[in-house]
Amino acid sequence: MTGSVPVVRTVSGLRAAVKAWRAAGESVALVPTMGALHEGHLTLVRLAKEKCARVVVSIFVNPAQFAPHEDFDRYPRDEAGDLAKLADIGCDLVWGPDRGEMYPEGFATRIVPGGAAEGLESDFRPHFFGGVATVCCKLFTQVLPDIAVFGEKDYQQLCVVRRLVRDLDLPLEIVGAPTVREADGLAMSSRNAYLTPEQRRIAPTLHKAIANAAAAVSSGAAPEAAAMEARGQILAAGFDKVDYVEVRDAGTLAPATTGTGRPLRVLAAACLGKTRLIDNIAA
Ligand code: PAJ
Repeated sequence: MTGSVPVVRTVSGLRAAVKAWRAAGESVALVPTMGALHEGHLTLVRLAKEKCARVVVSIFVNPAQFAPHEDFDRYPRDEAGDLAKLADIGCDLVWGPDRGEMYPEGFATRIVPGGAAEGLESDFRPHFFGGVATVCCKLFTQVLPDIAVFGEKDYQQLCVVRRLVRDLDLPLEIVGAPTVREADGLAMSSRNAYLTPEQRRIAPTLHKAIANAAAAVSSGAAPEAAAMEARGQILAAGFDKVDYVEVRDAGTLAPATTGTGRPLRVLAAACLGKTRLIDNIAA
């Protein structure tokens, strides 16, 4: 049976709903999103529901994490479609503030994350993790959930958010969930909708190339050589630009040192025309 999910638009409405659950002794999970929901997002919601009695999904295309030249205006938005998908999979409430509710007139505070936020994505999107950290901190203090679920698809983001929560003593646990992929290996992403059929055909090479690099590193190849090889494979397949392929420490994202036994992660970003895809995999 298809139900419907209530949407709240004000912090006070949100707090009242969560307060009623708390009064009934119920645990609360938050799944932050920018909407245009696909199976990757829905998997996070299902995981949240397994862990907590109540699940809040936030849908907010966060202007603070887009640079002026980026795709904020054309970022896919489909609230009616999102609500239909969330009905029946255990989402109890959608938190859908407008821009003025999230960033009221005179808003002047920004969190500046360091550590895992440095390098990789930040070399190409310097404004990005400040915007993510600021909105996530606000979402956490608005909802005050027991847990918040994030996808490994955005692995650096997951590391930055874990650090944020530890550093600011935010009273919640961050739960990471594995990347959901299309049958051909392409990581699901709202931005895949931008791809032409020809670009869509080429796109899975990003995953194949980093999977090859991860296998090579696991069997003893030097990280730099494996990354270089993957970069060549991505360009040979028809990608227009490789921003980075890097092998990093899976916990800190510091450059990989082999032979320490610490888990490693291969992370990559590459462009097909104007569309920038990111992916990562355990090595
Ligand atoms: P968005 O890109 O909508 O992603 C929301 C959440 O879904 C993130 O935790 C992301 O890692 C996860 N996700 C996306 N694709 C996935 C996939 N294929 N498999 C598993 N999880 C996937 O990430 C953001 O929004 C924003 O930066 C946000 C955290 C909401 C802050 O604005």
